[in-house]
Amino acid sequence: MSNAVWQYTAPGRLSTTLTASTRPIPTPGPGEVVVGVKAAALNPVDEQLAQSSPRLLKFIGATEPSETSPLTPSSDFAGVITAVGDGVTQFTVGDEVYGQRFSADGNGFLAEYVCIPASAPFIHKPAGLDWAQAAAVPLVYSTVYDALVVWGRLPFDPTDEDKAKQRTVLVLGGSSGTGSAAIQLARKMGLRVAATCSAANAELVKSLGAEEVIDYTTEDVTARALASPLAPFAEILDCVGGTDLVPHLDALILADAAAPQLGVYVTIVGDKTSRDAMGGAVTNLYYPAQAIRTLKGVVGEYLPNWIPGPLRSLVAGKRYACIRLVPTKDKLATYESFMAAGGKITLDSTHEFAQAKAAYERLESGRARGKVVVQVAK
Ligand SMILES: NC(=O)c1ccc[n+]([C@@H]2O[C@H](COP(=O)([O-])OP(=O)(O)OC[C@H]3O[C@@H](n4cnc5c(N)ncnc54)[C@H](OP(=O)(O)O)[C@@H]3O)[C@@H](O)[C@H]2O)c1
Repeated sequence: MSNAVWQYTAPGRLSTTLTASTRPIPTPGPGEVVVGVKAAALNPVDEQLAQSSPRLLKFIGATEPSETSPLTPSSDFAGVITAVGDGVTQFTVGDEVYGQRFSADGNGFLAEYVCIPASAPFIHKPAGLDWAQAAAVPLVYSTVYDALVVWGRLPFDPTDEDKAKQRTVLVLGGSSGTGSAAIQLARKMGLRVAATCSAANAELVKSLGAEEVIDYTTEDVTARALASPLAPFAEILDCVGGTDLVPHLDALILADAAAPQLGVYVTIVGDKTSRDAMGGAVTNLYYPAQAIRTLKGVVGEYLPNWIPGPLRSLVAGKRYACIRLVPTKDKLATYESFMAAGGKITLDSTHEFAQAKAAYERLESGRARGKVVVQVAK
């Protein structure tokens, strides 16, 4: 038996560089399991890794593609355990699991069988999730959980008292894989939501729970956000990138003396706007203004109140964070509670394994409405 995989050996867009190949089925070492992959989800970071310079790959500890080192993309999976190594106690052969493992070493999930450490952020799959749905969850759900709960400091399970406060969130990019999950998680957390998207996606974004929709293609997003009845926001969650709202954070971000921990601009992209460039915290290296803004946010939180306004605005600002998700098994386990509240990861499209290049073409278009998933095995 062989292991069918998609792989690339040179930098470039995955819709053109991927080739179908085979490898031996891996054997698990101590503490490892082999997953028979049923479905894998695609993420912009797959493309960013595939298009990064050798220097950046080295800096972030990622493997460089070459003829002698072919790489397989995709960090999200759902599948069945087919073998377990010595010392693995929490999983047995036949267990249905879902989760993620950052594919920076090229050991990604566009493959029939993948060997991963049992400690990686994957868990047993809830019975109510089919394979495609399950594969779509881990990366985007963990990211928006980090954004709203960890960095936003908003309660995952709000009390009636929390709900009565009618806290609000602005999601930039409401129809994206991350944005569509963020709107639903925010609603589950009792938050009121405004979101940006194009007119074509307005109905989708409203159906997910956004009560105010701003068409970024025809409207001035900054002016609409400033005039929004939901402003000031307990959090602005930016799934798009750029700096349009940055000059207005004082007006847009909540300042509540009774809840001083709240009020933050969280971006999962950074100041950059290119979809192909690596995002997240690494962008602080390329955008000094973003790094300074982050530091000013930290100072702003701890600066005593008696420091006068002009000095305050020189050294301090609203809390600001460009984040990179930190996936854990515990975070993923909260997905069942999100599901129970009616949350569902939005699927843009599912593709047969043989059509993996077309699936990446859809992702590269930048027009996906939710997640793009590849069905690896029936
Ligand atoms: N930091 C992290 O840990 C982390 C984790 C996950 C993702 N990310 C990053 O987050 C970004 C989004 O990822 P994703 O998977 O959600 O992307 P995606 O699903 O591929 O994004 C496509 C969607 O974005 C919408 N869109 C494009 N430009 C927009 C704009 N200016 N305003 C509003 N909506 C816009 C598109 O709608 P239209 O067709 O209407 O334009 C489309 O629905 C990527 O850069 C990714 O690398 C970072």
